[in-house]
Amino acid sequence: MNKNSSVAPIPSANGTATAVAEPVAVRIRDLNFFFGQGDLRKQVLYDINLDLPYGQIVIMTGPSGSGKTTLLTLIGALRTVREGSLSVLDQEIVGLGRSQLVDVRRNIGFIFQAHNLFDSLTASKNVEMAIELTEDWQEKRERAVEMLTQLGLSDRVDYKPKSLSGGQKQRVAIARALVNQPPLLLADEPTAALDKKSGRDVVTLMQKLAKEEGRTILMVTHDNRILDVADRIITMVDGRLETDENLAQFVSSHDPKSLDRRMFVM
Ligand SMILES: Nc1ncnc2c1ncn2[C@@H]1O[C@H](COP(=O)(O)OP(=O)(O)OP(=O)(O)O)[C@@H](O)[C@H]1O
Ligand SMILES: [Mg+2]
Repeated sequence: MNKNSSVAPIPSANGTATAVAEPVAVRIRDLNFFFGQGDLRKQVLYDINLDLPYGQIVIMTGPSGSGKTTLLTLIGALRTVREGSLSVLDQEIVGLGRSQLVDVRRNIGFIFQAHNLFDSLTASKNVEMAIELTEDWQEKRERAVEMLTQLGLSDRVDYKPKSLSGGQKQRVAIARALVNQPPLLLADEPTAALDKKSGRDVVTLMQKLAKEEGRTILMVTHDNRILDVADRIITMVDGRLETDENLAQFVSSHDPKSLDRRMFVM
């Protein structure tokens, strides 16, 4: 057994290994991941076992270089897994071909550190492009504007990225990720470029999506102020899942001085 075997026990109704697993949004078993080839081959993820149930908000934290973004891109079907099992939205994605992976990605909302907006398109058009990837294009402008409005950008819908602040661009990227109502949302430091109020608005919106609509959210963050929205906090260290705790456990296992007291204030 690996040292993380307590992190994600396989759900089992009667304690036997043959029990049928409950549906979860993400199920990872014995995943290892390497960058590079030959002499340059370097392992960056070790023995990852993790379940993300539907409707949970899970925060992933850990030092720089510990493998958080890599794990997120694997779950998002943006890189190919070769060792272990990775099931996303009830589909095993290890071994799938390129076009099948694209289909998996359609059901995932991504918010990444680099927001990847199209500079020549307005905020609204950037969001509408995501809607155009789906079969239902009805009222795409209205839907884009509504989403941007929920993120506090009603007066910026026709601005291009170069005329928006870093935080505003981040919120356009968030609107684009959310507009198709994906059942799974993967976010890498979504509040990093935001001031306190906008950051809180974004996580409150995510909390609403998870609790009222059963979406699953995996969010990488170093922002202690938003930890309180998490159902669970998982910590990566050197490519391994070190801990998997609820907020109370996380707080009691960390030096209070390293935590921001504002995180307890809603
Ligand atoms: N494309 C790549 N090719 C080779 N090595 C990479 C690549 N991307 C990341 N790595 C390495 O993999 C390890 C994990 O990187 P990753 O980006 O997942 O870390 P992280 O936890 O997201 O860090 P941060 O908090 O700084 O964003 C690091 O050692 C990094 O140098
Ligand atoms: Mg990263």
